[in-house]
Amino acid sequence: MSVPVESVEPTPVEPAPVEPAPVEPASAAPGRSRSVPATAKEATALRPHAEDAFAAELAALAAHDDRPRPPRWKLSPWAVATYLLGGTLPDGTVITPKYVGPRRVVEVAVTTLATDRALLLLGVPGTAKTWVSEHLAAAISGDSTLLVQGTAGTPEEALRYGWNYAQLLAHGPSRDALVPSPVMRAMAQGMIARVEELTRIPADVQDTLITVLSEKTLPIPELGEEVQAVRGFNLIATANDRDRGVNDLSSALRRRFNTVVLPLPESPEAEVDIVARRVEQIGRSLDLPALPDGADEIRRVVTVFRELRDGITLDGRTKLKSPSGTLSTAEAISVVTGGLALAAHFGDGVLRAGDVAAGILGAVVRDPASDRVVWQEYLETVVRERDGWKDFYRACREVSA
Ligand SMILES: Nc1ncnc2c1ncn2[C@@H]1O[C@H](COP(=O)(O)OP(=O)(O)OP(=O)(O)O)[C@@H](O)[C@H]1O
Ligand SMILES: [Mg+2]
Repeated sequence: MSVPVESVEPTPVEPAPVEPAPVEPASAAPGRSRSVPATAKEATALRPHAEDAFAAELAALAAHDDRPRPPRWKLSPWAVATYLLGGTLPDGTVITPKYVGPRRVVEVAVTTLATDRALLLLGVPGTAKTWVSEHLAAAISGDSTLLVQGTAGTPEEALRYGWNYAQLLAHGPSRDALVPSPVMRAMAQGMIARVEELTRIPADVQDTLITVLSEKTLPIPELGEEVQAVRGFNLIATANDRDRGVNDLSSALRRRFNTVVLPLPESPEAEVDIVARRVEQIGRSLDLPALPDGADEIRRVVTVFRELRDGITLDGRTKLKSPSGTLSTAEAISVVTGGLALAAHFGDGVLRAGDVAAGILGAVVRDPASDRVVWQEYLETVVRERDGWKDFYRACREVSA
């Protein structure tokens, strides 16, 4: 017997507020859309969900979208790809690019979700796997919050269902006592579920997903029932290249996924563009000053990161040692955002070398012994000699001392 869709909602653990409560950041957590209107949430949440932050773009796309939509999709695959990659609608509405990268990667990812295979986003740290997964879920289901964070301690209950023990002891196993996981809720409602860092989850727990993905069903033996996935259900998992081998995916599970690798930005210009865009967005949400003349500093951060990451200078002339940590685009974004905050609060509002130097040092020198040697060598052989980098060299020397 199948559990009717309604029975899984509302969940016992997330009661809807009885009266319109003042919006607190905590209430923006899992039980979204049940309590607080999007606009109020957007105004107060430190980081609104993609579907709230970009509600206007999503609505404009839906209004113009006359292409066929897979069952329960809010948009057609074409509109979802446009939402991610950006574009201009016939009435002039501008859709901002969320992901900057190869169009084909996005098209394959979106198409996969319309098939019976799940999507695995793979890549080195900071290549926007989580970011793309959130935006895909927001554009397809209008809800990016059906999320399980994978860790070494993730239990099976987090992927299947748990029990409300007070209810269970008082009344025995029943639907009321059942606490559905985000995956179960996504199945019942025909939505996209997200599993972050899949390969960190112990292998036997990962295998819970095999039945979900191949049979599209989740049995509840305690009740003699099952939850059958409604059309529209699918799953996006992310995994880090670096974690591979820790709990590699079993081949049985891997077969259920279509793997899409998110690449590092191919050129320095593309990376500068990504960093500038994201810093501008984050800065706006934190009420930091706009970036008047920060482009030079962003280019510098990106150059340092790329050179150290690739182990060679951009002109290909000098070989370098790479530090132990990852110097990803995501790290460059936080270094520049941190620098902008410094400039705003303790400087004259213009981003200068001194504002990013400490952040760069913190990102590069993870291992106090070996990374410091790598950094010093880079500083003395590359930074010092480079035209126009004197201010940056001085600032770095000051914080490295
Ligand atoms: N190609 C890109 N286009 C747009 N944003 C990007 C791109 N690459 C990185 N970013 C930005 O980098 C930040 C971090 O990305 P995200 O957290 O999704 O990385 P991740 O791949 O999930 O990393 P991790 O493996 O550490 O979990 C996001 O703010 C995202 O906007
Ligand atoms: Mg991630």
